[in-house]
Amino acid sequence: MAWKKIADKGAVAEGKGKAFKVDGKQIAIFNQDGYYAIDDLCVHQDGSIAPGKLEGDIVECPLHFWHYNIKTGKLTDYLKDVKLETYPVQAREDGIYIDI
Ligand code: FES
Repeated sequence: MAWKKIADKGAVAEGKGKAFKVDGKQIAIFNQDGYYAIDDLCVHQDGSIAPGKLEGDIVECPLHFWHYNIKTGKLTDYLKDVKLETYPVQAREDGIYIDI
């Protein structure tokens, strides 16, 4: 794991998510009471969850409305024990970094 700059500061609006490519992976960064980073690949049909609607810690996949906790990566409905990878995030002076 190593810290990598993923976005400029302010690249992700408050209360929203945005997708970024890092090391061949697509990562969703959410700005919801702090920044959270999670694999941007819904386990249902590989949808991007980054543009999903946020309610508290929960994001809704825009394609068929499965839900994930953005802090833990856990799917909150349909299947048990399904979890997307999460990554530590730091908001630094010059941008948003994740440990990947
Ligand atoms: S691809 Fe996410 S709910 Fe279907």
